[in-house]
Amino acid sequence: MLVRELNRGKCKTYLLACEETGTAALIDPLRDHVDRYIAVLAYHRLKLAAAIDTHSHADHRTGNFDLRELTGAQVVMHRNAPAPRIDLHVADGQTLALGALTLRFLGTPGHTPDSMCIVAGDRVFTGDTLLIRGTGRADFAGGDAGAQYDSILAKLFSLPDATEVLPAHDYRGNTRSTIGEEKRLNSRVAGRSRAQYIELMNNLGLPLPEKIQEVLQPNQTALDDDALKFPTLAQLNEVRQLAPQEVRLHLTAATPPVVLDVREPEEFSGELGHVPGAVLVPLKELARRAEELQSYRERHLVAVCRSGVRSTTAAAILTSLGFERVSNMKGGMLAWNDSGLPVER
Ligand SMILES: [Fe+2]
Repeated sequence: MLVRELNRGKCKTYLLACEETGTAALIDPLRDHVDRYIAVLAYHRLKLAAAIDTHSHADHRTGNFDLRELTGAQVVMHRNAPAPRIDLHVADGQTLALGALTLRFLGTPGHTPDSMCIVAGDRVFTGDTLLIRGTGRADFAGGDAGAQYDSILAKLFSLPDATEVLPAHDYRGNTRSTIGEEKRLNSRVAGRSRAQYIELMNNLGLPLPEKIQEVLQPNQTALDDDALKFPTLAQLNEVRQLAPQEVRLHLTAATPPVVLDVREPEEFSGELGHVPGAVLVPLKELARRAEELQSYRERHLVAVCRSGVRSTTAAAILTSLGFERVSNMKGGMLAWNDSGLPVER
């Protein structure tokens, strides 16, 4: 098993390869460094099979989609990942063969709802769930400190103590640690109760990542900002959120809302299906097609997508275009399906 960190910066990208078969994965690649990764792969005579993000990043654009275009690798993310055009969605406990190696995915929500860790042999790639002597923040982008505490204690700390920890970030020049070391020395979690951890994480008072506006929504939507003018975080926070059961209830009313599905056509007719009667307007076409939505101006519009993230962007855009009654379906079609509500395909 070949493992290399390729960035030598605060954001870590790992090359993981089966040397026997020449098969490789890149974990958390940066779009700005794709040329370098291609050169490293060529130098080691490796074929890239998988481009994996441990979660939707808020501090750099993902290199996954460029790598797929250049190498044919499949893009892998957790099933809760909001972006379209992911080739393989993985769930907790799922495995993936990488040549003779086996990758095992652990669903570890908390830093974001789509956070996961990857176990390969005696290593674990911990994303921003567990850092060396730290943990990833949980105060925006759907973060949940309590869930993160559970992910770390129940999932990561049940791995063998000798397991090497390879995080997605390091701000202090740490390079090596193990699960056993983190159990003892990680002061964020060691000796702290769940309630104490939540208290600590909710009061870190960190500024938002510098490039969050240029990075987070483009990563979550797989769109560039030249394709779409993204709403501000303040506009996103103002979007009214409805649970799937509430949407269902509204749909049985005398004047039901218009369900506006902003996913891609292949998702609309795909695995998760769509809400019966939903109107499909992919997010990237929303502003351009606003004219044809004018007939719904007096109606209540409910935006829907896969996980509720792209549709929050859509709802904020519709509000800025002058639509007055706009809501978002929280949790998207993932939550709708999890609630056992009816779908059309
Ligand atoms: Fe992160």
